[in-house]
Amino acid sequence: MPSVEDNRDRWANYDWSDKGDEWSGGFGSTEALWSWLLQPRVSPFLPSAHTLEIAPGFGRATQFLVPASEKLTVVDLVPACIAACQERFAEHDHIDYHVNDGRSLDMIEDGSIDFVFSWDSLIHAEDDVVESYVTQLGRKLRPGGAGVLHHSNVDEYRDPESGELTIGNEHWRAPTMSAAKFRRYARAAGLRCVVQELIPWGGPDFSDCLSVFRREVRRPLRRRIERRLRDDTTVVRNSRFFEQVQQRRATEIRELTEIYRRC
Ligand SMILES: C[S@@+](CC[C@H](N)C(=O)[O-])C[C@H]1O[C@@H](n2cnc3c(N)ncnc32)[C@H](O)[C@@H]1O
Repeated sequence: MPSVEDNRDRWANYDWSDKGDEWSGGFGSTEALWSWLLQPRVSPFLPSAHTLEIAPGFGRATQFLVPASEKLTVVDLVPACIAACQERFAEHDHIDYHVNDGRSLDMIEDGSIDFVFSWDSLIHAEDDVVESYVTQLGRKLRPGGAGVLHHSNVDEYRDPESGELTIGNEHWRAPTMSAAKFRRYARAAGLRCVVQELIPWGGPDFSDCLSVFRREVRRPLRRRIERRLRDDTTVVRNSRFFEQVQQRRATEIRELTEIYRRC
C-alpha cells in the first residue's frame, strides 16, 4: 500500500533529471500528452481565474496550466518538487507554491478555486488521502467550480469473498481506491461527480479513473436531496485511451471532450 510516507520517500529520492517527461513516452511526447490527452479533457474548464494543481512534480502538466490560469496554486508533498517548479516558472508571478503533508489544503482559502487538476500522481494515493482531498475540495472550490482528478480504480477488482485483488498491480496503483469510492466521497462533500472515465494503464483492466466533478451551487434542500439519492454519474470505460493519443483519433477525442463538457 503506497502510504503518504512511501510517496514522500519515493518521489524525494527519484531521479528527476528528465522532469517527468520520461513518463510521456507512451504518448509520443509531453506536448502530445497535453494536446491529445489532457487539453481535450480540461478544455471545458480553462482558462480559469484560479487553478489548483495537486502534486505537480517537476511541472510536466503545470507548464500548460500556467498560461491558462490567471492565478495558479501548486501543492506537492515533496519540497524538491516545489523547489523545481519555483525555478522552472520563476518568470511568472501569478503562481503560489506550497509543500504540504500529503493531505491538507489548509493553505488555500475556502471558495477560492475555480478549477482543480491532478494528473499521474493521486493514482498512488490510498482512499483515505483521496477522501481527505475531496472533502476539502467541497469547501475550497467556489460554488460552480470544477475539477478533474486522476486516481486509482484498482479496488474495483477486489474479490468480495477473499478480499484479494483479482488483477496484478505493477504500476504501484493504490489498491484501496476506486471510482465508486470517489463518487461516495464527492457526494458527501457536496460535489457532483458528473463523469468518470475509466482507463487502462498498459493492460486490459481499468486500473485508473479520471473523475470530473463540480461543486454544487446552492439549491433548494429538496433538489439537493433528490440529486444525492440519484447516482447520475456518466461512467465511460475507455479501452482505447492509449490508441486515441498514439493514433491521433481526433473524432473520438472530440466526443470525449463533449462528455467532459457535461460537467
Ligand atoms: C509520478 S509523480 C507525477 C508528477 C506530475 N503530476 C507529472 O505528471 O509529471 C507524483 C507526484 O505526486 C506527488 N505526491 C504523491 N502523493 C502526494 C500527496 N498525497 N499529496 C501531494 N503530492 C503527492 C509526488 O511528490 C510527486 O511529485
